[in-house]
Amino acid sequence: ATPLRLALIGLGTVGSGVLRILHDTAGRDARLGTVQVVGVAVRDLERPRDLPVLPPLTDDPFSLVRDPEVDVVAEVMGGVDLPYRLLTAALKAGKHVITANKALLARHGQELFALARAQNRQLRYEAAVGGGIPLIQPLEQCLGANRIHSVTAIINGTTNYILTQMATRQMAYTQALAEAQALGYAEADPAADVEGADAQEKLTILASIAFRIPLPPLEAIYREGITAIDLPDVINAQQLGFGIKLLALAERCPDGRLDLRVHPTLVPVDHPLSRVDGAYNAVLIEAEPVGSIMFFGPGAGGGPTASAVISDLINILADRPAGPTPADFAQPPPGYLSIDEVQT
Ligand code: NDP
Ligand code: HSE
Repeated sequence: ATPLRLALIGLGTVGSGVLRILHDTAGRDARLGTVQVVGVAVRDLERPRDLPVLPPLTDDPFSLVRDPEVDVVAEVMGGVDLPYRLLTAALKAGKHVITANKALLARHGQELFALARAQNRQLRYEAAVGGGIPLIQPLEQCLGANRIHSVTAIINGTTNYILTQMATRQMAYTQALAEAQALGYAEADPAADVEGADAQEKLTILASIAFRIPLPPLEAIYREGITAIDLPDVINAQQLGFGIKLLALAERCPDGRLDLRVHPTLVPVDHPLSRVDGAYNAVLIEAEPVGSIMFFGPGAGGGPTASAVISDLINILADRPAGPTPADFAQPPPGYLSIDEVQT
């Protein structure tokens, strides 16, 4: 088979996981054996890398996205402006693109998906929401027969890990955050996790696919993180029969507008979302005609997220068409409920 030549941008938690999978393809999709990693972009060329095999490294990611030898660019670096320029250049150079970067897609996704379509290239992003949970492709394709009414989700592993440690081990917030960082769950700047921005970015992507609309602007999503929650709040909630969860909610209102919110919520202990612990995520969907569906699994971490990146690679290797993507949803935004209008 013709080898597929991959350039990896980023070799941290997720990038290392991708290389580990590609190093040992035994027992995995046979097509992965045809992947050649032609180069990896990093920031610090001197950093020790604990990997079985190290492809050529560069600190110039543009050299990779413009390399005529590269077929697919996988961006697992993070940030917004630099990956925006890199992925734009990659698509213009005719590469397929994979990204785990929800911060980028929430801000520039509409334009990037349109560019991918214009270039007849794929822009895949299974890892951007829900870590290792197969979510984007099932929503785009397997639930295509449905009208989705609501999405209720735990989609940030770091905050769910923190809240779980506070509830089960009476651990202080700062210590639980430090553990989440050490385990590779948190963003480079964990403020994005604990202030709800990461969940907000993921919710705009979920809302777009679920409601088949262009990506809602981040300002349309009310956001409140977990920074004001301390141990007594968690313990008091438990005594009343609730867990505290950072929920991301997207709901179609009777007037057609969308209610989009991210905030800590008291969840009754017998609710399925209250049993989602640690860095696990879950996405509960109410849809017609299928009914209730819940996706559940590891929402952060190197192995699970690399699994999702590789699933995009397998789809590209199989030449499976992507989408529909937000660039295919033409209808105008339906309007959004303000937080003052929410009936709680
Ligand atoms: P890390 O911080 O662990 O890794 C980032 C990598 O990018 C590092 O290898 C770093 O190089 C490299 N890098 C940073 N800046 C540059 C630059 N200017 N030029 C070249 N390389 C650069 O991040 P993660 O692996 O945790 O996350 C990567 C992406 O995946 C982010 O978008 C994140 O939101 C997303 N993601 C992460 C998940 C997770 O659980 N960690 C889950 C889902 C998505 P160096 O090694 O030299 O520092
Ligand atoms: N920082 C993110 C989280 C990584 O904790 O969920 C997965 O997107």
